[in-house]
Amino acid sequence: MFERLNTPEEAFNYQLGAALKMEHTVLDKILADNMEEAQDAKLKELFRHHMDETRQQIDNLEQAFSAFGWEVDDSPCPAIEAIHKEGKTNVKKTDDSIVDSIIVSGAAETEHHEIAVYESLITNARAMGRDDVVSLLQQNLAQEQHTLEEVKRSAEQIAAALPR
Ligand SMILES: [Fe+2]
Repeated sequence: MFERLNTPEEAFNYQLGAALKMEHTVLDKILADNMEEAQDAKLKELFRHHMDETRQQIDNLEQAFSAFGWEVDDSPCPAIEAIHKEGKTNVKKTDDSIVDSIIVSGAAETEHHEIAVYESLITNARAMGRDDVVSLLQQNLAQEQHTLEEVKRSAEQIAAALPR
């Protein structure tokens, strides 16, 4: 773990570690909880599928560390912990009949956060001339963007079916 970040490489290494921590939190906490709490079968399937993708994303991030010759090491990612905590609190206080609406809203926040993280990493990997790493990160970004679209579609269907 770095005390201070003094070079662009150190900053990138640190942020790559935060992305790794983010994905582990998404897989082990956010998606695991969503799978358990979602009521709609199609929504559960979306989360189950994204768990598989997230395992690939973790693998891609570990490959990015290796491509630089760095030891795989995660960095703190309090933002994703906060998204998880807020979602958990909201789900707990929400009736099962409308809980999917709360769950997809948290899922959209998660995906937007992940997209921002990958966009920044890609910008910096490209500036370092590391096309190999850019391509690994692009795979993750494309999966997050696709998942966000699926989440938005679900959110529309769920919102339309809510009792008014
Ligand atoms: Fe992800």
